[in-house]
Amino acid sequence: MNPRRSSYTTGGGSQSISIDPNTFFQTQPQTSNVVASLKMFLKKPHAFPFLLFVFLLLTWVSLRLQHSASVSSSAAKTAAFNDQDLKWGDEKKSSHSVEEDYKANMIRFPSSATLSEITKDKRGWLMDPVSVALESGIPGGAQICASLHVGEIRPGSLRGNHRHYTCNETFLIWGAKTKFRLENNLMEKGYTEVMIDADDVAVIVSPSGTAHALVNVDPVRTTFFLGCQDNRIDYNSSTSDFNVWKDL
Ligand SMILES: *[C@@H]1O[C@H](CO)[C@@H](O)[C@H](O)[C@H]1NC(C)=O
Ligand SMILES: *[C@@H]1O[C@H](CO)[C@@H](O)[C@H](O)[C@H]1NC(C)=O
Repeated sequence: MNPRRSSYTTGGGSQSISIDPNTFFQTQPQTSNVVASLKMFLKKPHAFPFLLFVFLLLTWVSLRLQHSASVSSSAAKTAAFNDQDLKWGDEKKSSHSVEEDYKANMIRFPSSATLSEITKDKRGWLMDPVSVALESGIPGGAQICASLHVGEIRPGSLRGNHRHYTCNETFLIWGAKTKFRLENNLMEKGYTEVMIDADDVAVIVSPSGTAHALVNVDPVRTTFFLGCQDNRIDYNSSTSDFNVWKDL
């Protein structure tokens, strides 16, 4: 019945001399025998668990491959934006893409961030948003703060939705889930929108002539923000546009 077994029995008797030619000449038939018996086996109902196992194994392998491909491609993107890629926040631990944040001129520090720019210890975080923005390489950040605005935005409320023509502004935003919209004429809609999570600390650059809006979309928490402008704005003159977006 089993030619494979009988060939080993014959070969075993006369030691290595007859084993070698046997195995050599029988390589082809043995392979086709294996294929044939595999076919037989697969036709039987008890092959089902085996097939299921093979299928699961293949699925697992393909998921692993996909995962490592996406990790390496996002790492490549991060590196392309800035060679000190850690500056863009700890992407692996954040559900947001570095690319989207980049389009919104944003540097995000998720609660898990352990970066040098955001000094964190038991007391909490501490940072200089103006230098974080300048060091990030995003153009249009304020170099100095000629005017500072610090404030809160209660749940459901909106601030900004305006465009200043005579100042660059660097924002620091934290405290609640907050939607930030920044004018971006490279986008089809004319803007980029990012969601800042309640645990995130975000630095955003809005260069002169770029509209921006902050909306607290958190059900309970208050958004806090700081805006550093490199020039004093005369709100009486026509150096700003207000109510830029009607859908906010
Ligand atoms: C804003 O930044 C630009 C460089 O990005 C600079 O040329 C300009 O002087 C800055 N200040 C104002 C008020 O535009
Ligand atoms: C702006 O205009 C108002 C009147 O509309 C006036 O009372 C105020 O003094 C002006 N402020 C400046 C800075 O010119």
